[in-house]
Amino acid sequence: MNEVKSGLARNPVLGSRFLKELESFPKHSPPLGSTGSRLLDGNSRYAEDLEDMIAQFHHAEAALIFNSGFDANVGFFSSVPQPDDVILYDEYIHASVHDGMKVTRAGVKKAFLHNDLVHLAELLQTVRREDRENAIRSGPHEKKRERNIFVAVESVYSMDGDTAPLREIVDLLEPHGAHLIVDEAHATGVFGLQGRGLVNELGLESRVFARLHTFSKALASNGAALVGPKILKDYLINYARPLIYSTFTSFSNLASIKSAYQMLIEGETVELVEKVRGLISYFRSNIRIPEHMLLPSTSPIQGIVMDGNAKVNALSQELIRAGLNVKPIRFPTVPKGKERVRICLHSHNTLEQVQKLIHIVQTWVNRDQAVPVGAITEVDVPAIIDSLDVASPASSSSSSPSSSAPTTTSLSSSSSAFSVSAVSAKSSHIISKL
Ligand SMILES: Cc1ncc(COP(=O)(O)O)c(C=O)c1O
Repeated sequence: MNEVKSGLARNPVLGSRFLKELESFPKHSPPLGSTGSRLLDGNSRYAEDLEDMIAQFHHAEAALIFNSGFDANVGFFSSVPQPDDVILYDEYIHASVHDGMKVTRAGVKKAFLHNDLVHLAELLQTVRREDRENAIRSGPHEKKRERNIFVAVESVYSMDGDTAPLREIVDLLEPHGAHLIVDEAHATGVFGLQGRGLVNELGLESRVFARLHTFSKALASNGAALVGPKILKDYLINYARPLIYSTFTSFSNLASIKSAYQMLIEGETVELVEKVRGLISYFRSNIRIPEHMLLPSTSPIQGIVMDGNAKVNALSQELIRAGLNVKPIRFPTVPKGKERVRICLHSHNTLEQVQKLIHIVQTWVNRDQAVPVGAITEVDVPAIIDSLDVASPASSSSSSPSSSAPTTTSLSSSSSAFSVSAVSAKSSHIISKL
């Protein structure tokens, strides 16, 4: 296996590209801080050129940069669906979509079971049947249109690491004229040609209404771009409140995003992605634990499911003690019985680290199965991860405990990483993701 030492967050090529980009603007024009909302002083030619570059890279008509992926989802779901419209969303959709839906004007919001095409098909048919019934009721003189249907999915689910069956979903939606919005937060930089995402990998770019590419994960920056039709961009500029009423991101962050995209465009991340893929494949084919405990995933996010917060806390603590930064995901972030340790493999991880991970997990699982239930005690593991990614149980509405607030939130700097990485036994430093 090649010795590639870094993911993008600690990548020297990105570091020097970024510094060079900053140095090429010695007169601080554009200004260092954006100084305002983009609708006031915060806009710049630089930001617009970057959006064009991102749109071109993702083969989209337009791209619109938000300060975060969270803002982008809230902006979209709070403003685009109209009062008569319908939103159907995967039950595991990210908290930011839930927050957008809390203030959306859409009349109907319904979850479908995770990745369940049959359930999604049933909901689509119900919406169209109701449309037909309404049309009959309103009589021949009143023009009653079919409602717009927006469907929200993630290409790679943040808690399980599994992928959405996007091709089948697109096939299902098209006859109903439904609009698909794919959150590519965990696929950007990792899936698709030069990191364009899973929609690209499956050749679906022209069949998806909008995609969200976040810069905060693989791209070692902050913010996100919604890519899609130009009319969507124009609409969001006028109606998306997180964009209108917030100071736009700084020039240095835009320079960082641009530098990361240049690396993607020039194929400089291909080797890193191959390394991660190699580690994923090694991990999955070598770990020996009961099949039901290992979540199905081809992405860098791997989950080992255990029953109960105490168990995931204990295993996570053992891994952290061994220098591997792996965090527990607990109820109510995930449904009861689906608690898991969440592993995120990075290109800077070594084969030895993955071997160590496998060894500790296997030993722990074997020991656990010999221990009577209840013998495992709670240990204190920081859980800021709970506040970053929120998956909701099937029955949850936007006000369910899992989508409203995590049980434990900590802002300590030692608690915000979710990676398999070397950490000192005393303090687990922030290790960002690729
Ligand atoms: C699937 C998904 N969507 C959106 C977001 C929000 O992105 P950001 O961190 O840029 O706000 C996250 C981040 O945790 C995520 O996992």
